[in-house]
Amino acid sequence: MLSVENVTVRRGRAQVLNDVSLTLAPGKTLAVVGESGAGKSTLIAAILDLVRVAAGQITWAGAPVRRCSPALVMQEPRRAFNPHLSLRRSVMEPLEAQGHVIDTSHLTTLCAGLEIALDLLDRRPTEVSIGQAQRVGILRALIAAPPLVLFDEPLSALDAVTQKHTARLIADLQREAGFAALIVTHDLGYAAAYADDIAVLRAGQVQERTPAARFVTAPQTDYGRTLRDAAFALGALERVA
Ligand SMILES: Nc1ncnc2c1ncn2[C@@H]1O[C@H](COP(=O)(O)OP(=O)(O)OP(=O)(O)O)[C@@H](O)[C@H]1O
Ligand SMILES: [Mg+2]
Repeated sequence: MLSVENVTVRRGRAQVLNDVSLTLAPGKTLAVVGESGAGKSTLIAAILDLVRVAAGQITWAGAPVRRCSPALVMQEPRRAFNPHLSLRRSVMEPLEAQGHVIDTSHLTTLCAGLEIALDLLDRRPTEVSIGQAQRVGILRALIAAPPLVLFDEPLSALDAVTQKHTARLIADLQREAGFAALIVTHDLGYAAAYADDIAVLRAGQVQERTPAARFVTAPQTDYGRTLRDAAFALGALERVA
């Protein structure tokens, strides 16, 4: 279980996370939504130990999160890779550095699940589409079978068709691999369709945490309702799972 307890993070003089508490059980999906600047990426950085936590604590199964080797999928897939390396090197190098041995059949199975042709991995990040690069980003995240995967806007760089396809692939892989997913997204339609729970972050504070299906019909806070209504106005909300 990921446990974020009373976490405060300051950046400069601003308090960008203010007494944030959240939990995420193994295998479950928590979507974190909220407007730009709410602190969503900062929450991910805090979980990954990339920013200093001024107060509170963050653990996985009672131990520091880094011990479970959590993985991150970033928003801009092509920029997430070293432009000078083949995608294969970018996927394999961090693993080799940690002394992991990945058997080829595991790589092949994951690539099949992500609909990545194996020879695509011989290209550099600028030589593939953004959708392909994001699938390789997900491959890199999942290859060492982490129990916890953090997604920071994993679909926002993709076109609508590719978004749907990639969302489905992530959900299918999660069902097979059983990782817990914390997904930061602006896209309430995505959150409502795929997450178990939705946490609403505003100005560094958690406003509410609501089962995704219920959030669509009955957000618990005025701000939650505002977000929900804005998504309805765009015709985005549709519960598919
Ligand atoms: N390195 C930094 N130094 C100072 N302030 C920062 C830094 N990174 C983020 N901030 C500030 O922290 C606040 C939260 O930023 P954060 O990136 O977590 O928001 P976000 O919810 O991810 O927004 P977005 O949806 O636009 O990605 C913002 O006010 C931002 O300006
Ligand atoms: Mg962000």
